[in-house]
Amino acid sequence: MSTILAIETSCDETAVAILRGSELLASEVASQAEHEAYGGVVPEVASRNHLLHAPRLLDQALGKAGVALEEIDAFAATSGPGLASSLMIGASMAKGLALGADRPYLAINHLEGHLLSPFFDGNSEIEPNVSLIVSGGHTLLVEVRRVSGYRILGRTVDDAAGEAFDKVAKLLGLGYPGGPEIEKRAVAGNAARFDFPRSMLDSGDHNFSFSGLKTAVRYRLADFQNEQATPGLVSDMCASFQRAVIEVLVKKTLRAAKECGATLVTMSGGVSCNQALRKEMAERCRAAGTRLLTAPPRLCTDNAAMIAFAATLRFQAGFRSQVSEEIDPNLALV
Ligand code: KG4
Ligand code: ZN
Repeated sequence: MSTILAIETSCDETAVAILRGSELLASEVASQAEHEAYGGVVPEVASRNHLLHAPRLLDQALGKAGVALEEIDAFAATSGPGLASSLMIGASMAKGLALGADRPYLAINHLEGHLLSPFFDGNSEIEPNVSLIVSGGHTLLVEVRRVSGYRILGRTVDDAAGEAFDKVAKLLGLGYPGGPEIEKRAVAGNAARFDFPRSMLDSGDHNFSFSGLKTAVRYRLADFQNEQATPGLVSDMCASFQRAVIEVLVKKTLRAAKECGATLVTMSGGVSCNQALRKEMAERCRAAGTRLLTAPPRLCTDNAAMIAFAATLRFQAGFRSQVSEEIDPNLALV
């Protein structure tokens, strides 16, 4: 049974996890609230914070796991996609640890971490599936055949779904990250009040677009500029916006599954925390006779446990990376 230590620093979360077989011994995450003031992630601030937090989280994880560095069988880090200055911190640390302990290093694709996370609580048997990854940086439909057997079916041509949540939240004067704020307000809102566009719903491919939706919210909001933005207006905007995003994500995912003949759909990434999305996806999958596996909520937003899980599967399958392997901000999923 392998013990893997993984570090995730692709964006603004610093995370360290230790996974022994299927037992998660530690999963430490430090989120960076500093970015809220800017309404988005500032790369220089993020990398400086990774430098501050990562050594502390490493000690914390080893302490919680009750594991010495010598007991780690391999060190893994997210090597892309993400912010170059952020990726560099976690990858350099994992490489240094691997060299120091004379153990293998594994470079892990952040998207693979998300994509495999729905299997985390299972028996680690990766079944073929069609996977929707919905996060702040990505919106992707992938046909998964096995670990490292991926075919991209479609992706967003502009904003990611989470990015749209964050930008719309900013327009509505809500906090960052916008997803949870919008979800909270949408509960009391009237989703039928505003008929926002379902972009690319019938585009005939598996791609997405969310920037037009964000612009539509901006224009509708401008109609009310002479009025006080009442809580009712904000809730209705949130509910209507959220429904538009969910409808497109769910319908296009099920269409892709049907086209691929997949009997299993998986869903991961920060936006998949959204309860309304989970509920709608579950109902539509049930109606279509398709099974659904979603990432456990604690593993939806960025964390190192999912990186450790992907690394464990790769380690067991015989994959190893060179410490000379560079980080790649645009790393493709292969
Ligand atoms: O996976 P993640 O932590 O980071 C990336 O890899 O991008 O995803 C963060 C994104 C943010 O855009 C955030 O607004 C969104 O996930 N998010 C949500 C919810 N919780 C987080 N979006 C909708 N509803 C939520 N409950
Ligand atoms: Zn992510």
